[in-house]
Amino acid sequence: MNLVDKNVAERAREDFPLLQELCLEGSTKSQIVYLDYAATSQKPLQVLKALEHYYTYENANVHRGAHQLSVKATEAFESARDITANFVNASSSREIVFTRNATEGINLIARSWGDANLEKGDEILLSIMEHHSNLVPWQLLAKRTGCSIRYVGITESGEFDFDDFRKKLNKQTKLVSLVHISNTLGTCNPIKEVAELARIFGSLVLVDACQSLAHQPIDVRSLDIDFLVGSSHKICGPTGVGFLWGREHILDQMPPFLGGGEMIQDVFLDHSTWAELPQKFEAGTPAIAESIAMGSAIQYLEELGFDNIQKWERNLINYLFDKLFSVQGLRTLGPPPDKQPHRGALATFTVEGLHSNDIAGMLDLAGICIRSGHHCCQPLHRYYSLTSTARASLSFTTTIQEIDQFIEELISVISFLRKNS
Ligand code: ALA
Repeated sequence: MNLVDKNVAERAREDFPLLQELCLEGSTKSQIVYLDYAATSQKPLQVLKALEHYYTYENANVHRGAHQLSVKATEAFESARDITANFVNASSSREIVFTRNATEGINLIARSWGDANLEKGDEILLSIMEHHSNLVPWQLLAKRTGCSIRYVGITESGEFDFDDFRKKLNKQTKLVSLVHISNTLGTCNPIKEVAELARIFGSLVLVDACQSLAHQPIDVRSLDIDFLVGSSHKICGPTGVGFLWGREHILDQMPPFLGGGEMIQDVFLDHSTWAELPQKFEAGTPAIAESIAMGSAIQYLEELGFDNIQKWERNLINYLFDKLFSVQGLRTLGPPPDKQPHRGALATFTVEGLHSNDIAGMLDLAGICIRSGHHCCQPLHRYYSLTSTARASLSFTTTIQEIDQFIEELISVISFLRKNS
């Protein structure tokens, strides 16, 4: 890996077959410009090879067999857990529970910790910028237990309203559950400060790190939080696996989430006892190959280096916002990079008089992939009186040329739609 002569994007793109080969259907010329990394990342060869390697050389069930293949598979699977634990600086690998995705991690906490600990009078504090995955599980929990949900608002620039947080946090607050980087606003939330204040009131803190884990180093001990969830497919790994990190003593006290094989110690006809952490929360055969490949994805990001990733993505996001600001009638959401330099590498926008689906649909015809819609943040869109926005989201593989191409096509799409509407 030579990062001296090449920028991160140039170097990394060589590892991503899909970025090398993508062509518009029926065309041999135009390469697709993928700007939908917040929805899912592309996968490097190292991850694809890890999947193939497991199925070719190590395929067996984990934690079960006495045979050598199962031992090999178990070692690879548990090594992925160690890699994940180091990635977020967990105190121990026992604190890493493999889940299907971040959504399942949040549901696990709501079902297990929430059902066992919350009752009428207790409060959960969320923000209005949360993804549906950090809203609906708590609404279901509130229905089951009678606890209430309160919402922290956002400032004019789309940042977490810390004053409002201070007002709403109180002794009844049992959990603050907050997104680290908003998938719509790109806002990076002050997790450490939130956790510090929450701790004074005895509240736990859960962080949805889906949009930050591939972009900046995360240290759960330095943030001083209690739970964190992430999804493999957002960090260059495969779909079907994610993880929950939780403080060991809290996870230890929580009842199981799903029941079945793997999560038990002993099963009798009238009762069962539970396995130690983390198996207590991993019922059934896990996503073995995917978990191993998630480990490879993490190693890939770490080898590339978060310093390099952050430096490059910061250039990109400054450049993207500068270009977007020059487009007439276009309005961006969330704090611009000059207001929040550490914001997420994405830009969500609207264009006066035009529907974002039309913009995204026409850009697609030109080979530009962006997302449009409510991005699973309907309450946030309602707050802005919007039903739909367009979003371009970047990665360390994004190039300046791709942004130029996107802006050029965007300007011509806007002009076409204006003329024809
Ligand atoms: N949460 C993902 C997104 O923002 C799917 O696109």
